[in-house]
Amino acid sequence: MLELEDIQSGVLRPRPTPYVATYIAFRIDDRKAGRELMRRVARVVTSAANPTSPLADTWVSVALTYEGFRALGVPREALDSFSWEFRRGMAARAQDLGDTGESAPENWERPLGTGDVHVIIVAVSPDEGRLEAVLEPARQAYRNMSGIEAIWRQNCHALPTETEPFGFRDGISHPAIEGSGIPGSNPKEQPLKAGEFVLGYTDEMGGVQKTIPELLGRNGTYVVFRKLHQRVAEFRRYLKTSANGPEDEELLAAKMMGRWRSGAPLALCPFHDDPALGADPHRNNDFLFQEDDAAGFKTPGGSHIRRTNPRDARIAGVARIHRMLRRGTAYGPPLPEGVLEDDGAERGLMFAFVGAHLGRQFEFVQSQWINDGVFFGAGEDRDPTTGSGGGTLTVPRRPVRRRLQGIPQFVVTRGGEYCFMPGLRALRWLADLQT
Ligand code: HEM
Repeated sequence: MLELEDIQSGVLRPRPTPYVATYIAFRIDDRKAGRELMRRVARVVTSAANPTSPLADTWVSVALTYEGFRALGVPREALDSFSWEFRRGMAARAQDLGDTGESAPENWERPLGTGDVHVIIVAVSPDEGRLEAVLEPARQAYRNMSGIEAIWRQNCHALPTETEPFGFRDGISHPAIEGSGIPGSNPKEQPLKAGEFVLGYTDEMGGVQKTIPELLGRNGTYVVFRKLHQRVAEFRRYLKTSANGPEDEELLAAKMMGRWRSGAPLALCPFHDDPALGADPHRNNDFLFQEDDAAGFKTPGGSHIRRTNPRDARIAGVARIHRMLRRGTAYGPPLPEGVLEDDGAERGLMFAFVGAHLGRQFEFVQSQWINDGVFFGAGEDRDPTTGSGGGTLTVPRRPVRRRLQGIPQFVVTRGGEYCFMPGLRALRWLADLQT
């Protein structure tokens, strides 16, 4: 069984719908103050235990970057026991992640990627009232503390359409985790071993990830935050100019994503949208690919959801070791329906990954499954929706396939950080450091 009372709530629980969320980043200028901050936030962070509490959908989580652990004076041996990718940090991994050109770290929003972000506090709630109720104690934890500086904030909120900014329902597919008590969304998938998502437990490869001391990593997990700007007007213009009429526009959008905008999967309704299916959590993720659609006539191999989770489809490699928990929240105003010209507003997704293996989960999916096509026999093709641009999407069709070439880049990275979200005991261990 998982030690739920020691795991931060944000690790295991899907975010509520609708939601409001806020991300606050801190720099630690004084290690004693940093340790005091850990002591105080440990009291406001909610645990994954007691899922039936009325506050279960509202939580505060805290995560640290590698530089944050250094700023707290964590001993060298302990620092070295974290994963290589985490120690490098996201900005240093830019080439491998496809963060080049406009997405390159030199163009990121400051202070993301500069080494100044040490701690990130995240609060998520179904509404403003409850968000304030959990934020206030968190604020008291850092207000009037010298040696700690709040240096960045991002507010997020569900759009009135309850979709991500391109207009698709988000937050549908979640893996089941053994021992978590929280069901996954696909009844056809076997639950994944807890060690895929939380350190200190057996994972799918039979290994157990540990840090030195073991208590520091146990019940903790890696978290990737990425602020992803979405070029919504360009996405709409592309659909309009590439399609043969409004109906084809929607079909094309669905072929790029693998789901209609309502969330209904092409796998279950390949020819037209079915909003009732899209909204039904018992049916909208109940499918596999191989037996019914090996060649991708319904859901193209190159679509976003088949790339990021090929399920049982025959690919190079094993899909189960590249899964992730996602906690994406939207930011910025929606682009009013029908508008095709960019209004200059910043809008997009604060993408959040949760998993115990940064390298074989987040980095692998980003570099091999989103920005490459070799794994399913499509050469250098890229994800048509979230890839780094210039790709091709092949839509299998009879008598001749359809090919979209030179697809523009619709998503630009504005910055991000690799973090570690410790267990509650580990937060107190950090608070008690004496070095
Ligand atoms: C702005 C960028 C992005 C947008 C607009 C976006 C949008 C979506 C949407 C609409 C879905 C389908 C609904 C759902 O299952 O929740 C989805 C699924 C998913 N996305 Fe993204 N996404 C983005 C970036 C990413 C990135 C960067 C990754 C990974 C590195 C990723 C990984 C996934 C995964 C794993 C799924 C679930 C696939 C499944 O199990 O069927 N997404 N995304």
